[in-house]
Amino acid sequence: MDKYKATCKSPANIAFIKYWGKADPKTRVPQNNSISMCLSDLCSVCTIEFKKEFKKDKIKFLNEKVIKPREIERIIKVLDRVKDLAKTNLRAKIVTKNNFPKATGVASSASGLSAVTLAACQALGLKLTKVELSKLARLASGTASRSIPDGFVEWKKGTNGSNSYAVQIFSPDYWQISDVVAIVTQKMKKIPSTSGHKLADTSPFQKTRIAGIHKKINAIKKTMKKKDFTKFGQILEQEALSMHAICLTSQPSILYWNQTTVKIIKKVKQWRENMELESYFTIDAGPTVHVICQSKDEKKLAGKLKKIKGIERIVINRPSIGARTIDKHLF
Ligand code: DP6
Repeated sequence: MDKYKATCKSPANIAFIKYWGKADPKTRVPQNNSISMCLSDLCSVCTIEFKKEFKKDKIKFLNEKVIKPREIERIIKVLDRVKDLAKTNLRAKIVTKNNFPKATGVASSASGLSAVTLAACQALGLKLTKVELSKLARLASGTASRSIPDGFVEWKKGTNGSNSYAVQIFSPDYWQISDVVAIVTQKMKKIPSTSGHKLADTSPFQKTRIAGIHKKINAIKKTMKKKDFTKFGQILEQEALSMHAICLTSQPSILYWNQTTVKIIKKVKQWRENMELESYFTIDAGPTVHVICQSKDEKKLAGKLKKIKGIERIVINRPSIGARTIDKHLF
């Protein structure tokens, strides 16, 4: 392994119980626990090298046309935190890439920033535990904390920055379920999730949502324990609608969906009603729809989704391991 150089691969994750609304925006401590699954086929890879000769940090995004200044800032902040921990002032070269379009409702900040966090720690020789890494990734993006552990994950909200982190609840091979992702646009969303979180408390329904979420977390965990796919799916779908109800009733309101999103929702329900296929939808902060099914049905589901006009890409995901180092550097 090269000294001061490391490459990490990290998955996106899909939330079954969502993180929407922060208790503390600065430390990204959330208002509620959330539950997610790491995704096998949507991921980011990042290579970081620190060198004395580098005069400033250099960041390159592969396969991306538009880079917003805030994306660069977020990465620089990760570097600063890790450099503080390692007590160094070295500058870095970073090359990063996603295998999917960012900011369309696939959690690109989760995979991207967890990969940067782990790669930076590794390159500087920091030996952190998964809990420490999850906390560090959380500071970059809340959902990134959930891409550190493997498989099915719970982010325990904690009470402050030092006890808010994600842990595994089941390993990736525990349950054969799939997330068939229907990407419906390559365009970036107008309202980033960080801004959406800030609006959550302006919805008159946020208090009610938060009051009931502990019960919902316990209920969905029970269905996962029993592998009761039907009850699990019902909770997951209701939860997605609950988060979007907050978005729709925030001031100003946020509508993340487009026509294709609605078309998919209707089809998923119709397939269940007609006993053609049992699957359930969930949606993050974008128009992309994640359709969850039992893995035995994933091909059938992808085939049905393919027939819906407006879907640009379909990606089948199984539960995956979390952020890890790999040998193949990007430079
Ligand atoms: C809608 O992690 O993108 O995907 O902490 O401000 O970076 P920041 O927000 P982010 O939140 C997105 C939340 C969500 C729901 C979820 O995945 O839980």
